[in-house]
Amino acid sequence: MVQTVAVVGAGVSGLAAIKCCLDEGLQPVCFEMSDDIGGLWHYKENIDKDRTTTMKVTVANISKEIMAYSDFPPLAVYPIFMHNTHLKDYLHRYADNFNLRKHIHLNTKVIQITETEDHKTSGQWCVKYQNIQDNKVTSEVFDAVMVCTGVFGKPVMPTFQGMETFQGEIIHTREYKTSKNFEGKTTLVVGLGNSAVDAAIDISEVAKQVYISSRNGSWIFGRLGPGGLPGDMLMLSRVGFYLLKKFPSLLNKLAMSQCSKKLNHKLFGLNPKFSPLQSNSTVNDMLGYKLLTGEIKMKPGVKQICGHCVEFVDGSKIDGIDSIVCGTGYLPDFPFLDSGVIDVDKSNMYLGMFPPDRKVHTLVVIGCFRQKGPIIPVTEMQSRLATMVFKVIVLSFRFVDQSNLSREPTSCLEVTFIFEKFLC
Ligand SMILES: Cc1cc2nc3c(=O)[nH]c(=O)nc-3n(C[C@H](O)[C@H](O)[C@H](O)COP(=O)(O)OP(=O)(O)OC[C@H]3O[C@@H](n4cnc5c(N)ncnc54)[C@H](O)[C@@H]3O)c2cc1C
Ligand SMILES: *[C@@H]1O[C@H](CO)[C@@H](O)[C@H](O)[C@H]1NC(C)=O
Ligand SMILES: *[C@@H]1O[C@H](CO)[C@@H](O)[C@H](O)[C@H]1NC(C)=O
Ligand SMILES: *[C@@H]1O[C@H](CO)[C@@H](O)[C@H](O)[C@H]1NC(C)=O
Repeated sequence: MVQTVAVVGAGVSGLAAIKCCLDEGLQPVCFEMSDDIGGLWHYKENIDKDRTTTMKVTVANISKEIMAYSDFPPLAVYPIFMHNTHLKDYLHRYADNFNLRKHIHLNTKVIQITETEDHKTSGQWCVKYQNIQDNKVTSEVFDAVMVCTGVFGKPVMPTFQGMETFQGEIIHTREYKTSKNFEGKTTLVVGLGNSAVDAAIDISEVAKQVYISSRNGSWIFGRLGPGGLPGDMLMLSRVGFYLLKKFPSLLNKLAMSQCSKKLNHKLFGLNPKFSPLQSNSTVNDMLGYKLLTGEIKMKPGVKQICGHCVEFVDGSKIDGIDSIVCGTGYLPDFPFLDSGVIDVDKSNMYLGMFPPDRKVHTLVVIGCFRQKGPIIPVTEMQSRLATMVFKVIVLSFRFVDQSNLSREPTSCLEVTFIFEKFLC
């Protein structure tokens, strides 16, 4: 019978998980390795090892009503696109409103999750966690586990020929918090995703010159939509998704013409190789202006590096590069889980949350997905489904003949089936 649930991480996914456990009458115990809740949105200027945060300047790329929890609207005084401090404030209010804090252990890092000896019949997990302040390690058994550690676990660094000869500083955007060390410098930003462009714009305010190197280009969307409305209100709607399903190529053309109205992608060297629907879009309103004023210049992919000189695949070279910032993305990381439980490389989880090979579904992953829309409402839906499935496992243990183990839910489909049969 599932009663106690270990929740790993207290970012937006972890908070939704705790709330939904309480709604279902389960007992959540949340472990958060940082000194505060909020995950990425708990910004700190000094770099925490192992932890990704936003930059000081990061503003949400989705408008506030679209990205909110369903049962907790953002304050009216927040701007339409919230600065990371507003989002953090919002998450704190959410935690206070639903009394979540007493279930959260801060400064506590989960270091290992393993099956208990009788896991096959009990579905239970042994969670080993460490108090970061006194290094004390404790093991505790839980009926279920919700892994809410996000998709920004492990930074991906590119490798370039001659990279070791570079005489300046090379960092990943994970280590980029403010433009403090970039005054007067010539900087190369590698990548054209949201983080890369955010960093490039921020650095360009103080640097001598900023270059962005991108292999595949990207379509640049804006927060500012036609008529001064939030752009995502137009795109992220039921009508929008219906049209997207029925007429994908038409929508692609519409998106391209919308993007091109503000910024001639070809002229400025953005050269997107993929269509807007294929690629991971970039949301930025300032890039066009910065390209127009020359504070930022576009470059193709990096070929090789030699000293302070960077050569690009088109044969052009730039000498005097002082620093390189790699906005080359992240991979999810579950160092505390046996790869037999979740194989990160396969990422074949049912609904992105249930590892398919498990016999009993008492371990779920929440928020481990990427999408073009808001993250928060989806983590809430996932948490609701997960906690309901946990309740079904209560039912299935009660209804199913314990001696006949083959009657246990063996696949997610079967869980869904039992769920519909007994709960709906
Ligand atoms: C720059 C940037 C801008 C973004 N803008 C938006 C936006 O505008 N709108 C939007 O919807 N999404 C946006 N996102 C996406 C973002 O992923 C989600 O908004 C959301 O923050 C994801 O929350 P999460 O709880 O899943 O993960 P995270 O926020 O990463 O939280 C994971 C938590 O788990 C903790 N943790 C990890 N490992 C352990 C462990 N072993 N033990 C204990 N605790 C652990 C971490 O300390 C962290 O607090 C943005 C992301 C970035 C990087
Ligand atoms: C971008 O282009 C390079 C080759 O130029 C290719 O190897 C790489 O896979 C592409 N990236 C993506 C995300 O498709
Ligand atoms: C989009 O992002 C995902 C995850 O980072 C990556 O695997 C994929 O290659 C990207 N696709 C393109 C076209 O850039
Ligand atoms: C917002 O930014 C995050 C982080 O870069 C990204 O994963 C997400 O896809 C972006 N959302 C949109 C709508 O571009």
